[in-house]
Amino acid sequence: MSHWLVEETSDGSRTLRSRRFAQCCHSSSGARAETLYVSLELSGVCARLRAGAATRVLEIGFGTGLGWLLSADEALSAGAALEFVALERDLLDAPTLRELGSAAYLRHPELEEALASWIERTPSMGTARFEIAPRLALELFLGDARERVRELPRASFDACYLDPFSPDVNSELWTEEFLGDVVAALRPGAMLSSYCVQGAVRRRLQALGLRVEKCPGLGKKREVLVARKPMDASR
Ligand SMILES: C[S@@+](CC[C@H](N)C(=O)[O-])C[C@H]1O[C@@H](n2cnc3c(N)ncnc32)[C@H](O)[C@@H]1O
Repeated sequence: MSHWLVEETSDGSRTLRSRRFAQCCHSSSGARAETLYVSLELSGVCARLRAGAATRVLEIGFGTGLGWLLSADEALSAGAALEFVALERDLLDAPTLRELGSAAYLRHPELEEALASWIERTPSMGTARFEIAPRLALELFLGDARERVRELPRASFDACYLDPFSPDVNSELWTEEFLGDVVAALRPGAMLSSYCVQGAVRRRLQALGLRVEKCPGLGKKREVLVARKPMDASR
């Protein structure tokens, strides 16, 4: 049985509900709108790609693949290079990805089918690299993120989409230890964004040296989080 069930959100885009966590990958207000705003815009990825800057993104939780699809769509439109690394334990299968139907709102709808047919050939554990175009690569670190995060190169990513399930059900990906490994993978000046503004999470990120802010949210979510790693960060 698949780990995932497809659900419709208010902007017409679809998301996945995890049977393991009994939670959806996005808010019911809109999977597409939330990913565009919280992940691509607040992390600075959209602006970097539009300026033509080569960009390295780290995503915690690949889920529906929407973070990658929308980022890759933007990179292709802008003609900018994108290296995207995601940590994931329950990789969705190709039929589920097709059922999500994200191609309907991509400027490069072929990305969805390219990802689906690559997933069909990808083992569900280990590290898998997908080079869809010379300057557009996706690397999945499959398995428990707490172990895989330590294999990431240090001080290497320009942005992080911090997107586990909420701390009450997925607490292992919000500990200071795990977040410390994530922060270590960011280069000085990098941005991190998340839908989660819980006080304990903000304090942990601050203790790890990030400058943390709350920003206006979207739909039912009043606030979301943006953080920056200072240029003079030591870790
Ligand atoms: C909120 S969803 C991610 C949504 C995704 N960013 C998207 O655009 O669809 C959280 C993801 O974290 C993954 N996850 C949760 N705990 C994990 C763990 N210990 N190791 C690896 N992945 C984990 C889940 O399988 C799920 O795909």
